[in-house]
Amino acid sequence: MGEKVIEEDKEEAMKSSKTSLVFAINGQRFELELSSIDPSTTLVDFLRNKTPFKSVKLGCGEGGCGACVVLLSKYDPLLEKVDDFTISSCLTLLCSIDGCSITTSDGLGNSRVGFHAVHERIAGFHATQCGFCTPGMSVSMFSALLNADKSHPPSSGFSNLTAAEAEKAVSGNLCRCTGYRPLVDACKSFASDVDIEDLGYNSFCKKGENRDVVLGRLPCYDHASSQVCTFPEFLKNEIKNDIMSLDSRKYRWSSPVSVSELQELLEAENGVSVKLVAGNTSTGYYKEEKERKYERFVDIRRIPELTMVRSDEKGVELGACVTISKAIEVLREEENVPMLAKIATHMEKIANRFVRNTGTIGGNVMMAQRKQFPSDLTTILVAARATVKIMTSSSGQEQFTLEEFLQQPPLDAKSLLLSLEIPSWRPAKKNGSSLDTILLFETYRAAPRPRGNALAFLNAAFSAEVSSSEALDGIVVNDCQLVFGAYGTKHAHRAKKVEDFLTGKVISDEVLIEAIGLLKDEIVPDKGTSNPEYRSSLAVTFLFEFFGSLTQTNAKTTNGWLNGGCKEIGFDQNVESLKPEEAMLSSAQQIVENQEHSPVGKGIKKAGACLQASGEAVYVDDIPAPENCLYGAFIYSTMPLAWIKGIRFKQNRVPEGVLGIITYRDIPKDGKNIGTNGFFTSDLLFAEEITHCAGQIIAFLVADSQKHADIAANLVEIDYDTKDLEQPILTLEEAVEKSSFFEVPPPLRCYPVGDITKGMDEAEHKILGSKISFGSQYFFYMETQTALAVPDEDNCMVVYSSSQTPEFVHQTIAGCLGVPEHNVRVITRRVGGGFGGKAVKSMPVAAACALAASKMQRPVRTYVNRKTDMITTGGRHPMKVTYSVGFKSNGKITALDIEVLLDAGLTEDISPLMPKGIQGALMKYDWGALSFNVKVCKTNTVSRTAVRAPGDVQGSYIGEAIIEKVASYLSIDVDEIRKINLHTYESLRLFHSGKAGECSEYTLPLLWDKIDEFSGFNQRRKVVEDFNASNKWRKRGISRVPAVYAVNMRSTPGRVSVLSDGSIVVEIQGIEIGQGLWTKVKQMAAYGLGLIQCGTTSDELLKKIRVIQSDTLSMVQGSITGGSTTSEASSEAVRICCDGLVERLLPVKTALVEQTGGPVTWDNLISQAYRQSINMSVSSKYMPDSTGQYLNYGIAASEVEINVLTGETTILRTDIIYDCGKSLNPAVDLGQIEGAFVQGLGFFMLEEFLMNSDGLVVTDSTWTYKIPTVDTIPRQFNVEILNSGQHKNRVLSSKASGEPPLLLAASVHCAVRAAVKEARKQILTWNSNQQGTDLYFELPVPATMPVVKEFCGLDVVEKYLEWKIKQRKNV
Ligand SMILES: Cc1cc2nc3c(=O)[nH]c(=O)nc-3n(C[C@H](O)[C@H](O)[C@H](O)COP(=O)(O)OP(=O)(O)OC[C@H]3O[C@@H](n4cnc5c(N)ncnc54)[C@H](O)[C@@H]3O)c2cc1C
Ligand code: FES
Ligand code: FES
Repeated sequence: MGEKVIEEDKEEAMKSSKTSLVFAINGQRFELELSSIDPSTTLVDFLRNKTPFKSVKLGCGEGGCGACVVLLSKYDPLLEKVDDFTISSCLTLLCSIDGCSITTSDGLGNSRVGFHAVHERIAGFHATQCGFCTPGMSVSMFSALLNADKSHPPSSGFSNLTAAEAEKAVSGNLCRCTGYRPLVDACKSFASDVDIEDLGYNSFCKKGENRDVVLGRLPCYDHASSQVCTFPEFLKNEIKNDIMSLDSRKYRWSSPVSVSELQELLEAENGVSVKLVAGNTSTGYYKEEKERKYERFVDIRRIPELTMVRSDEKGVELGACVTISKAIEVLREEENVPMLAKIATHMEKIANRFVRNTGTIGGNVMMAQRKQFPSDLTTILVAARATVKIMTSSSGQEQFTLEEFLQQPPLDAKSLLLSLEIPSWRPAKKNGSSLDTILLFETYRAAPRPRGNALAFLNAAFSAEVSSSEALDGIVVNDCQLVFGAYGTKHAHRAKKVEDFLTGKVISDEVLIEAIGLLKDEIVPDKGTSNPEYRSSLAVTFLFEFFGSLTQTNAKTTNGWLNGGCKEIGFDQNVESLKPEEAMLSSAQQIVENQEHSPVGKGIKKAGACLQASGEAVYVDDIPAPENCLYGAFIYSTMPLAWIKGIRFKQNRVPEGVLGIITYRDIPKDGKNIGTNGFFTSDLLFAEEITHCAGQIIAFLVADSQKHADIAANLVEIDYDTKDLEQPILTLEEAVEKSSFFEVPPPLRCYPVGDITKGMDEAEHKILGSKISFGSQYFFYMETQTALAVPDEDNCMVVYSSSQTPEFVHQTIAGCLGVPEHNVRVITRRVGGGFGGKAVKSMPVAAACALAASKMQRPVRTYVNRKTDMITTGGRHPMKVTYSVGFKSNGKITALDIEVLLDAGLTEDISPLMPKGIQGALMKYDWGALSFNVKVCKTNTVSRTAVRAPGDVQGSYIGEAIIEKVASYLSIDVDEIRKINLHTYESLRLFHSGKAGECSEYTLPLLWDKIDEFSGFNQRRKVVEDFNASNKWRKRGISRVPAVYAVNMRSTPGRVSVLSDGSIVVEIQGIEIGQGLWTKVKQMAAYGLGLIQCGTTSDELLKKIRVIQSDTLSMVQGSITGGSTTSEASSEAVRICCDGLVERLLPVKTALVEQTGGPVTWDNLISQAYRQSINMSVSSKYMPDSTGQYLNYGIAASEVEINVLTGETTILRTDIIYDCGKSLNPAVDLGQIEGAFVQGLGFFMLEEFLMNSDGLVVTDSTWTYKIPTVDTIPRQFNVEILNSGQHKNRVLSSKASGEPPLLLAASVHCAVRAAVKEARKQILTWNSNQQGTDLYFELPVPATMPVVKEFCGLDVVEKYLEWKIKQRKNV
């Protein structure tokens, strides 16, 4: 009877339990039946596929880029409080937002209701280029403002946010275009403590203006009245009234509200795969988890025990579901416990803000415990002697130390981590010590990004109880705990042998060196870990850093602080801090706006910038899916050379949603298996019987959703066979050995300059056979490759492609389908970042969609996931260079003989263009005579292609490496060697012939002198010298580097049409990829049409102009968008059209003036022209003449500081002067200069694009591939745009800016080399036998942290201590 009642109660409860999720997006109510939801659906999937809110972008799906950031607001009905924080929607599960409110960038404001001040300021600070990252940036900024102003609304029109906080607001978001400086300025413009003078070039204020005047002009930020409502009233009411909970048994998603309910649930689910979900951010790392089919998802965040926080004299206990952000907040509140503050500071470097906001401490610990995740949290908490409470099905609740817990076998899926406790621990008084024992606690981490968002190479946390002993004359270690993690080991590791050794000892140099010896045997990364020696050396560094200041020799000073009791531990004689001063970002720009052809020459805002910021700008994947749309995913080879014997699914089970796999066999009978068509040869779309490289596309899987397509593609297995095949060619050496080369057509071959034999004969010194090598670089456009193909009537195909080369895409598709070109139409509106990667590499993507669409007669689209994009698209050309150089004793070079081996990969792509690019940029110096030979090698790796400044960046750097080598050889200052080898105008003409232009156009010598004036270069060199003399572990370097960059103008079409209401439509075939093409073109159209002079100002005309998408059937013979000159060429094409229109309109105007006797307005004029049936559409084609090639000049001076112990580089300052001629739009050009420089910085300092031994790319995610972030750009970043004189053969005297400034980033690398040299010199003074360290070294590119440390000496600490000991003995 009793049982029956219970059952009935349950039935009743089930009837009244919740059946749906309710939440809000941008104030709109959404209710979803739980039974209809796949609980593995992410929020980004839902937003992009099921709502109109497409401002949310997908950049990585890993929590690593910030493109998908939205604001999540949670209402607490008891406290009547709303919490607002950013989250990554790519990791958040849709079901977990039940009862929450989501705000996206278009929810903050948009073109219909008005943009938000954040959007308008981003636009006014010229902080958007391709715009793909911008909605995420906007939300991050908005969230920072909202939270800063929540507790006490600001009064002044500024926010309570400080400038320092503003800088951090976007530090977790990636942007590949802008170089971040303008984004930070836009955010800082809200800060209450901002110095208006510090804000960079923008359209609101000018230097020297009064703060109130500027405030009046800045788009209004009035927190009180314009606050976006992040939590709608209806949802509050529903939450207050809704006491129903989900019935755990009924749906695949459940949210138990107590531990017992959870246990019941888990027990009932025997044999069923259950996933406990907290923040779900672990799926960013363990991506396979996203694809695993769980029968049940259990959200554990509503269980009070798991979200509890307790803080008392025993310590701080945090429930496992406390988020990392919340934990930081709690620990910060414990002001009196410095150790907790240190833990909080370290935790701020875990991931990024939007991951920390949902990622929980329990989730992190479980990742480490179960899967050996390289966690920071476990390392620091083991050192803090944390304990954990767990609940297992077998033993109930148990408590362990975290250290014990980590060593146990992985916790089973039905057990639960309940909480973590950091105990309060105070040192005991020790007998025999003259002073109380002091507790020391410190944490460390070394990672490519100082502010986080990068896993550490090694992290560490040490605690020690020490006391001062007069008897022993030093500091005694009474007890210590030394924990290391993330270095390629199973879990956080205590160096127990070292702990035992140190305990009871007086810290001295001798003791330390012995401890280091023991440590090196203990901290050994597992086999296969990258940079193992570097990681071990970091362990030594951190140990030294911790104990260094306690050594016997320092005991007297140390005693002082032990007495004081609370002083921070210092470093090395308590004087030298290891960190550079935390300088805020600052910048200065000198820009001249040219009025001569206004509005051309003005720094006007980018066309559509607000639309980009709000996220309304439509990219290919934002186009709503047509009915019946299918989705594709590429299947690629993982073998370099093998027969493809079969393609099948794992376990021979066809995964959900799969509709077919398209291979070369599906090419129509009149079509060809071509994936690229254009530059030199066409290339296969799909591998046929043999795959020729890892990463080659084998097939295109088609499914009913992108998610299903991606999951299924991962489940494909290819049967390979290598029988009867030769060994693949995977290195340049193998290519040379097998003479595997591509032919370079004669006009593209390199040419010698002067007589090399004579030049070598004249030399007083020679360096022979020196070597330089370069790796690759990935584009890292934020929008990956994407296309949508829609079959049309009569065997036609309309394809939307994110491409820099729509016409080539068009030809490829026609060829592949075997249809006439007029059957194909390719439409491209804008591209979310290209950098060369959307030229050739966009073609197979569009072709595959078109082929699948043609076969299935349904629309097919793909949005290539980041991993596949990284593996299949190639990237920059790796190369190896061997050179011999002859020179005089004063450093004047007389001859240079170079051979370059270029790794082109499998096919030619654009590789035959590379030799000229390399040579052109190399010839920035007068080499006397030059012999230059490039072998374009064919290897079994993915074809390399154009990446911004292809070849030029390496060529320019080769020049610097040679100059540095000569300087080292002669022991002459490298700056002098640079100067003496700069071209005269005569030598420039000799090397560059026709491209050199007139003498007055050669501005490089002027820039060389000007940079000194602009940056105080020579003065600062002395300061750097002084710094290096007085600092042991921080060394600085400063370097100025010139760049010469040749560009070619290409023909391009344009059309300008005036509609009956006077509005103007401009069509060009150049593509807006973020470079500001549309903006310049609009300015040119306004200028061109303004010449009619009809009383309408050019600014008014500007507002009437719209540039529209490129359409290959509307405008033919479009060229490629690339090579930096598309903006100029397209502008010129448009100017010619405007001339034509003006010519037609002039007689109309004259007649009107005669008739009316008064001024004629634009609208009148156009009405009249329409009445007279005048053709108001003019198309043209710009054709460059023989002077279409010219040289660009720029110069940069960079100053860096390296940390000799960790290899970390801080770029203290960069100054650039770049000659833009008469800039068409200095705001756009400034953005190009800064953005290109920062991308170059990535190449020279950070980005390693690595392959395995089969040639398969292994750095295939945001976890492993690190582009620059806000915290890795120059702290001070100054740019002057030189407004050089008339360049009569250029478009309104303008010059290019898209690629050349990238070369200037070499200045950072050169400055690092100078700093490393100082570190090496220092080692030489410690190392009496002078072995193993020379000053004549080649610093590899990129100079990552491990590289810098290696060249400073992995054993620099040991060398130093040995030297110190020896010194003392000698005294
Ligand atoms: C981009 C990015 C960068 C990162 N960088 C760092 C870094 O530099 N350093 C670092 O230390 N970490 C880093 N992390 C890891 C991050 O801290 C974790 O992803 C996060 O803390 C996991 O918490 P979660 O709530 O999202 O866990 P979830 O993803 O929800 O869960 C993780 C796993 O633990 C299980 N689980 C969760 N809670 C419990 C529980 N209470 N009991 C039993 N099982 C449970 C889940 O079932 C799942 O298997 C990074 C993460 C991302 C996405
Ligand atoms: S797409 Fe979510 S963080 Fe990159
Ligand atoms: S504008 Fe930021 S990625 Fe393009």
